[in-house]
Amino acid sequence: MSFMGDEIREECGVICVYSERGESADVPYSIYNGLIALQHRGQESAGISVITDGKLSTKKNMGLVTDIFSTEDIERLASKMGIGHVRYSTTGSSTIENAQPLIHRERGLSVAISFNGNIVNYEELKKRIQDLHQMPFSCSADTELIVKMFTTELKKELQLEKKGNGRAGATSKPPSEVGRADLSATGAGELPHPPIKSSEPYFNAMHAVMKQLEGAYSVALLVSDGTIVAARDPKGFKPFCIGRKKTLVDDLIFIASETCALDALDAQFDRDIKPGEIVVVRNNALETRHLFHERHAHCMFEWVYFSRTDSVIEETPVYNVRVRLGQELAKVFKHEVDIVIPIPDSGRSTARGFARASGIPYEEGLIKNRYIHRTFIMPANEQRKSLLKLKLNPVKAVIAGKRVAIVDDSIIRGNTMKRLVKMLRDVGAKEVHILVSCPPVISPCYMGIDFPTYKELLASDRNIAQITEELGADSVTYNTTDALQRALALPDNDNCMACLTGVYPTPKIHEYAQSRKIEGKKKPYTIGVLASGRGSNLQSIIDHIESKKLNARVGIVISDRHDAQSLKRAEKHGIEYAHVDPKKYPGKEEYEKEIIRHLHDKGADLVVLAGYMRIIGKTLLDAFKDHIINIHPTLLPRHKGCMGLACHEEVLKAGEKESGCTVHIVTQEIDGGPIIGQRKVPVLPGDTPEKLSERVLKEEHELLPEVIGLFVRGKHGC
Ligand code: GAR
Repeated sequence: MSFMGDEIREECGVICVYSERGESADVPYSIYNGLIALQHRGQESAGISVITDGKLSTKKNMGLVTDIFSTEDIERLASKMGIGHVRYSTTGSSTIENAQPLIHRERGLSVAISFNGNIVNYEELKKRIQDLHQMPFSCSADTELIVKMFTTELKKELQLEKKGNGRAGATSKPPSEVGRADLSATGAGELPHPPIKSSEPYFNAMHAVMKQLEGAYSVALLVSDGTIVAARDPKGFKPFCIGRKKTLVDDLIFIASETCALDALDAQFDRDIKPGEIVVVRNNALETRHLFHERHAHCMFEWVYFSRTDSVIEETPVYNVRVRLGQELAKVFKHEVDIVIPIPDSGRSTARGFARASGIPYEEGLIKNRYIHRTFIMPANEQRKSLLKLKLNPVKAVIAGKRVAIVDDSIIRGNTMKRLVKMLRDVGAKEVHILVSCPPVISPCYMGIDFPTYKELLASDRNIAQITEELGADSVTYNTTDALQRALALPDNDNCMACLTGVYPTPKIHEYAQSRKIEGKKKPYTIGVLASGRGSNLQSIIDHIESKKLNARVGIVISDRHDAQSLKRAEKHGIEYAHVDPKKYPGKEEYEKEIIRHLHDKGADLVVLAGYMRIIGKTLLDAFKDHIINIHPTLLPRHKGCMGLACHEEVLKAGEKESGCTVHIVTQEIDGGPIIGQRKVPVLPGDTPEKLSERVLKEEHELLPEVIGLFVRGKHGC
């Protein structure tokens, strides 16, 4: 993934540098070099803002870091502190106005901002700020919103200081007021503030802003009085870390999006900024406050694709995760191939992990032209095919006559992959099997990754067989979300996997996602199936979905038995599955909590009991109130409480003239919840339980998908 408009847009890299010694060209040089190390996070524009002689100066432009800055620029930006940015737009278009650092000037105060993320409640906050302060917005990026909010809050805080409002450590001097400053690219004259001793106003201002923001952000603000404020959102979606460097003449503090920038600067990694933590650097000291404590939701894509392979996030090396993803793929890959080749560059370490675990030889079969980047001028549509070859060319000597497995980090729209498969066949590949580290991407991201709409996502309404056909491959093997979690190995599975499950990490973001009916499509209705045995009803659901008679997806199949045929059926259709063994849990509550975890993880909207031979307890009932349905093989309310073949025995014993099947909502009363649908089957002379079961099952296979369809369309009437 990553070519010709098929890529996920990486969204921004941030760096801050603070020198204890004083103004020197080392600071802009460090920012410049750090930005080069972070270039993979954005190639659209880059910029540096510094404080020189108490003035905020900025140089930014469209293009790559090395194209924007000259030696003279860097020398001119000699300073004690500064921030830098590389950008790939998420909100806001790709223009110089949106390039960062973005500068906001108000009387007496100038603030530069570098931002990585996306604010979900941007429109709402922007309107509030506009109404409240009659403040015009000059560009469309949510960055402007944050810097304006911060400046407003900081001014309030400074006013309080002026009034001597008794805040801890506060000094009483007000900032000097100056006229609106010139907005030229290299900054302009303004008066420095009288020094404020305490860091409290900066913490308070940022805290007040963060309380209002909903979304993902790692943000750095450079205040003209010589202060850097950096913060990471309470969920920790984006990485952000602190580094230090001691030289004979200076002590330097760094804050950067990724550790690879610290390495490039020869700095020591100190620690990650904690989710919900604010860092203030001023008066030659770094102070922090950890003010928000929420469940973390680190974007799994940082490890899967965005971050550089040599970076370490949350003490978890990106390289190790990618290798483990390959090892996980080796566990589930079922085909015979001659070689495995990575799609460079992000597929490399995964392909190595796969090769090591499977014993399949690793080859470099695709060569990437590293001199083509995203500012490359796009040719007309008909020339796109040759463009792919310009970027990525197969090595015929490696591929011809071979059964090839190719490894990519993810498939988003699938356009590139489709062309790639054809390209490999054109140079003589006998078979092309696709291995993908990231599980199917089914939902858009609103936390700063430019994932397309549901409609554009290849996997949002296709199963594995359909994806394989669409891509023209011999097979497609994805990792499961469980495998991804194992590979990440983060404590408490602290990851955001919303794009894989449709479950967004905060209620507000979830609400926002639901409200976005992009191109008339919403998250596919997701069912979780609990099945203890044969799974013919599960098969019927799958068949109905695959033949497009049922507009839903099976998110997971769970069984209480490890040998259940239902699990094999799920595996065959590339559906995630889990064996949750009740014996492993001290009680029903713990057992059901584990089931709920799986169902929530996979974004289940409805739980379907398809031959699940256990009584549902209060824990599960409460978690999916009115959204658990069961198929029962008699005409309820007759013959409640029986299971499987025993039901048909009961019916025959009772001398019934007719039997059938029922789908009902599961409540605490066994087989006693509201009936949603029934089908009748006559009892025939000479019927045995087996014969009757066979005819009832046929009806079950029609009834169950029909009732699920009612839920999908919201027409089940309960
Ligand atoms: C089906 O007949 C279903 O109605 C029944 O088990 C069978 C499962 O078959 N369910 C119950 O008895 C629940 N009380 P399957 O595994 O082939 O779908």
